[in-house]
Amino acid sequence: VTEPDLQGRHVVVSAGGTREPLDPVRFLGNRSSGKQGYALARTAAARGARVTLVSANAGLPDPAGVDVVRVGTAVQLREAVLKAAADADAVVMAAAVADFRPAVYAIGKIKKRDGQDPDPIVLVRNPDILAELSADRARPGQVVVGFAAETDDVLANGRAKLARKGCDLLVVNEVGEARTFGSEENEAVILGADGSETPVPHGPKEALADTVWDLVVRRLA
Ligand code: C5P
Repeated sequence: VTEPDLQGRHVVVSAGGTREPLDPVRFLGNRSSGKQGYALARTAAARGARVTLVSANAGLPDPAGVDVVRVGTAVQLREAVLKAAADADAVVMAAAVADFRPAVYAIGKIKKRDGQDPDPIVLVRNPDILAELSADRARPGQVVVGFAAETDDVLANGRAKLARKGCDLLVVNEVGEARTFGSEENEAVILGADGSETPVPHGPKEALADTVWDLVVRRLA
């Protein structure tokens, strides 16, 4: 039996991966499937929350009873998340947001030219949405949660990232080509700004999602 412990709460979840266009047909993207974010949205709705899911290129069916806002790029994701966060009790940034985007968008498809080397792709920094949300809380006591995909020194890098971003909780996954992305399962450790460390054993993404909400509910109380 699921407790309605998020009843009366508005939570915002970002999911999927941003795509940063180079021209009308090409983009820089990442391997995020959106499954973890969608699991967070489903489980929050099951626990009674009003849920806004900001979805970037996930290609998954809308979860029942959830408001879905579709976005493409990091800049669009920022707009949608900041708007929804204005009256939110908690924001969970599960989306894989591109750290950089191409500096130039070509209005027409980029063409290869005979005998010429291709132009280099110049990148500029995207806004760090998680850091911004954490620094300027839309309401006092709002709980902000980030995700981190690390390939090495998972705990040390996770602690440093938690401090840098200023969020309340950071869900740290170990990733590699064969792990996590697109998979139905996950394994993580959730670091708290209060120094807490909650290991989540290998299991369905729903189980990790429920543990995240358990920790959020405790901080909202
Ligand atoms: O810095 P890094 O990309 O590893 O941080 C991951 C966390 O920060 C995720 O929660 C992601 O949603 C968020 N993020 C963000 N804005 C960015 C980059 C990442 O909100 N530009």
